[in-house]
Amino acid sequence: MLLNDRFLKACLGEAVDQTPLWLMRQAGRYLPEYNATQAKAGSFLGLAKNPRYATEVTLQPLDRYPLDAAILFSDILTVPDAMGLGLKFTAGEGPSFDHPLRTEEAVKKLRIADMDQLKYVFDAVSEIRKALIQDGKQRVPLIGFTGSPWTLACYMVDGSSTDDFRHAKTMMFSRPDLMQHILDVNAKSVAAYLIEQLKAGAQALMIFDTWGGMLPDGWYQKMSLASMQKVIELLPREYEGNRIPIIMFTKGGAVWMDDMAQAGADVIAIDWTISLSRARKQLLALGKPLALQGNLDPLILFSEPEQIATQAKSLLDDLASAPGLKPGLHALDGHIFNLGHGISQFTPPQSVSALAEAVTKYSRALRSKR
Ligand code: CP3
Repeated sequence: MLLNDRFLKACLGEAVDQTPLWLMRQAGRYLPEYNATQAKAGSFLGLAKNPRYATEVTLQPLDRYPLDAAILFSDILTVPDAMGLGLKFTAGEGPSFDHPLRTEEAVKKLRIADMDQLKYVFDAVSEIRKALIQDGKQRVPLIGFTGSPWTLACYMVDGSSTDDFRHAKTMMFSRPDLMQHILDVNAKSVAAYLIEQLKAGAQALMIFDTWGGMLPDGWYQKMSLASMQKVIELLPREYEGNRIPIIMFTKGGAVWMDDMAQAGADVIAIDWTISLSRARKQLLALGKPLALQGNLDPLILFSEPEQIATQAKSLLDDLASAPGLKPGLHALDGHIFNLGHGISQFTPPQSVSALAEAVTKYSRALRSKR
């Protein structure tokens, strides 16, 4: 029994009383309590690999703010780690792999990720589900996630975060067969990974394609989108009688709205390079009434609380000016409020309170005006 099912309803295009809100990277370094838990755990991976700590930090933002969904605390790079690439996080430098895929031999040896090595993730999912229960009811639904096959390939080939993922793109342009092989292995791996998260208790699934937007038109569709579509095809649409919404997020992907709409996702997450009303109109013109998630620029959270409220309101006003997803729905239905990318670690925590208050009050007020 869910105490608050606004998020799931909005994903499936059903009417809700107010616009649901959650934030990408909502559990993270902008919260002092997160930093305290990470200090206890000793490191980022120490935190992510310990289900008790992962549960603790997953719940922290929910205890502070009126958010409508929890997201599993983990990282997209756990999957290549379980393929034997050797993941490390160096403080201040981000992730790196001991064994990046730089030769044909290394690529050909790549095998589907070993799910046994990811047991800590599935244990965290089931522990979070238990911790979300309050007075016999679940507070909010739990989102599971993965990186997209292409975004994972960027890190797997380059070996760390770089400006341009030069090695990955070079492999794609000069040896598309090798890149295709990596994408195929990744697609099968992340589909298996998402299915295990479902079995452990995830109630919605999100695919993060952070680096799809740096591909040329044509290559995006062939490489990143096609491999995400393969993942979606491998997933069950229902689990234990419940429809499982799938959210697809290609950062910088707004120009490909028509292609993304065909991939089989229930929700398209967008960044700030397209407005919600424009995205809604495009989807309706395609005959694809999919829900939208997004898309406040996370840097707006560095403004004063009044400006944050103004910006959140203008985003809702913009969507309210568009047609509804289906007859009988308010224009604001079928939308999950979020940022267009992860929250910055330097965000003042009180900014999120201002945002949540504005989204709650204003999205209710606009609905009552209908
Ligand atoms: O949203 C959530 O609260 C769930 C947790 C989550 C993390 N990473 C925790 C994390 C999620 C959904 C991710 C996804 C992720 N990881 C993506 C896709 C989304 C995006 O932000 O584009 C990517 C590209 C990664 C890879 C990654 N992980 C990088 C490049 C870094 C270093 C950059 C940085 O922000 O420091 C990480 C580390 C990481 N993953 C942190 C967190 C909270 C910060 C490290 C720390 O806490 O010490």
